[in-house]
Amino acid sequence: MATRFSSFVRCILYIYSFFAFLCLQAHEARETTESDHLNHTHTVQVSSLMPSSTCTASTKGPKREASLTVKHKYGPCFQSNKDQLLVLNHTELLLQDQSRVNSIHSMFSKNSDGNKLRESQATTIPAKSGLSIGIGNYIVTVGLGTPKTDQTLAFDTGSDLTWAQCKPCAGQCYKQVDPIFDPSRSTSYTNISCPTPLCTQLASAKGSPQQCSNSKCLYSVRYGDGSFTIGYFSKERLTITSDVVDNFVFGCGQDNEGLFKGIAGLLGLGRGQVSLVQQAAQKYSQFFSYCLPSTTSSTGYLTLGKGNGISSSLKFTPMLTLSRRQSFYGLNLIGISVGGQRLSIPTSVFSTAGTIIDSGTVITRLPPTAYNALRTKFREMMRNYPMISSSSSIFDTCYDLSKRQSVSIPSISLFFGGDVSVNLDKVGILYVLRKTEACLAFAGNRDPSNIAIFGNEQQKGLEVVYDVVGERIGFRPGGCS
Ligand SMILES: *[C@@H]1O[C@H](CO)[C@@H](O)[C@H](O)[C@H]1NC(C)=O
Ligand SMILES: *[C@@H]1O[C@H](CO)[C@@H](O)[C@H](O)[C@H]1NC(C)=O
Ligand SMILES: *[C@@H]1O[C@H](CO)[C@@H](O)[C@H](O)[C@H]1NC(C)=O
Repeated sequence: MATRFSSFVRCILYIYSFFAFLCLQAHEARETTESDHLNHTHTVQVSSLMPSSTCTASTKGPKREASLTVKHKYGPCFQSNKDQLLVLNHTELLLQDQSRVNSIHSMFSKNSDGNKLRESQATTIPAKSGLSIGIGNYIVTVGLGTPKTDQTLAFDTGSDLTWAQCKPCAGQCYKQVDPIFDPSRSTSYTNISCPTPLCTQLASAKGSPQQCSNSKCLYSVRYGDGSFTIGYFSKERLTITSDVVDNFVFGCGQDNEGLFKGIAGLLGLGRGQVSLVQQAAQKYSQFFSYCLPSTTSSTGYLTLGKGNGISSSLKFTPMLTLSRRQSFYGLNLIGISVGGQRLSIPTSVFSTAGTIIDSGTVITRLPPTAYNALRTKFREMMRNYPMISSSSSIFDTCYDLSKRQSVSIPSISLFFGGDVSVNLDKVGILYVLRKTEACLAFAGNRDPSNIAIFGNEQQKGLEVVYDVVGERIGFRPGGCS
C-alpha cells in the first residue's frame, strides 16, 4: 500500500515537473523576445559607446506643460556652446565628482567633519553659511524675469537654493553661455530687505543667522571644491516652459567663482524649504520626475507636477528621510545583482551606510563590501576582455575595447525596499573615458559608514519619479522614450 502510494506521488511529481518545465520554457521564450535579459548580458556596439558630435533630440517623452528638456552640460545638444566654453574633460569631471562625494560624506559624518570643513574654508567668505556640494552635469533652461530671459542651470536634487549670476556682478562673474541676468531690466524683480523676518527665515533654513548688506538680505553658498556664490536673496518670476511661478526666492549671485563655468547657476530640487519643489508645492504637489539622456548627444526631460498622471509601469520604493541632512532624498538599497545573479551581501552592509539618490553625483558610490562583491562578479563575467590599469583614481576595473566591434556587458540590477528591482540601462554600466579605457562605472566608499549614493550615470535612461507627499520614489526603465 505504502509503495503504491509513493509511486503515485512520484508520478504526480513527474507530471507536475514536466508541466513546470514546459511553463519555464514558455516563460523563458517570452523573456528572450522582450530583451536579451535571458542570458543577462547587454550586447552593445563599441562605437555606440563613443560620444557623438551631433545632437539627436528626443521627440518622445512626456510633453506636459511644465516639462523642461534635459541636456548634458558637455554634449552637442547644448547648442549655444559655440565658443568652446564647455569641453568635456573626464579627469576634471571625475575630480569634481569626488569632491562632491567628499562633501556629502562630510555632511553625514557623525563627528561633524562638515563643520570643520566649513571653518577651514571660511576665509574668503564673509559669512558663516551652509557648505554645499558641487554642481551637476545635467542642465535645463528656465526663464527668469519679465520679460523672461533664458538661463541655463544645472539641476540638483542635492541642494535647495536656486541661484543665477546677476548683474552688475559687484564681485565677479565667470563666463556663461547665456547673457548674464540683469535684474534692472526686469519688472518682476524684488529685493528682499534686511533685517526682516523673511530674511531671518531664509538664513535659518541654511543654518545661519541673517546677514544684511546695504539693507538687503545676503546669501552665500560654498561648495566642497572651493567654488562659491554670494549675492542677494531676491524674488523673481520663474518661467518653466509656459508655467509661471511668481515671487520665486532665488539667489541673485554677485560674486561667483569656481567650476560652474558656462552655465548660469543652479536649480535646487532638494527637500528643503527654499527648493523649487517646496516653493511651488501648491502648483506641483511636491511631485517631479526626470529622465537623464542615455548619451551626451541626446536629450531627456524634467517635469514638474503629475501632468497626465503616473505610468503604471513605474515601480515605487519608499522615500526615506535622513535625519542628519533632510535636503537629500533617501532610499533603502538592499541588494545588487550582476548578470542575473544576486550577490550575497549582508543587508547590514547597506543599512549601516544608508543610501541617497542624487542627480548631481556622477558615479554611484557603494559601501566597500558591496562594491568588492560587484567588482568580483563583474570581472569574472568580463574575463574575455583585456583588463588595463585605470588612468583615474575613481575606477579600478577597466578594459581596452579598441580591438572590439561589440562588447557583452553583464546586466546590473539594484534592489530596493518594497520589493523593487531596477534593471540599469546598458549605458549606465561602463564609463567610457576613451576607446582604450572603459571602466565599471561604480566606486567603493573608503569607509563602511559613508553613505551610498545612487549617481546619475546609473540613472541614465530611467524615468525617476519623486513623490514627496506620497514619500516614494519610482523607477521605470526605458524612461526617456
Ligand atoms: C547573449 O545574447 C546575445 C544576443 O542578444 C548574444 O550575442 C550573446 O552571445 C549571448 N551571450 C551568452 C553568454 O549566451
Ligand atoms: C583636464 O583636467 C585636468 C585636471 O584639471 C588637467 O590637468 C588637464 O590638463 C585637462 N586636460 C585637458 C586636455 O584640458
Ligand atoms: C534692489 O537694490 C538695488 C541696489 O541696492 C537697487 O539698485 C534696485 O533698484 C533695487 N531693485 C528694486 C526692484 O527695488
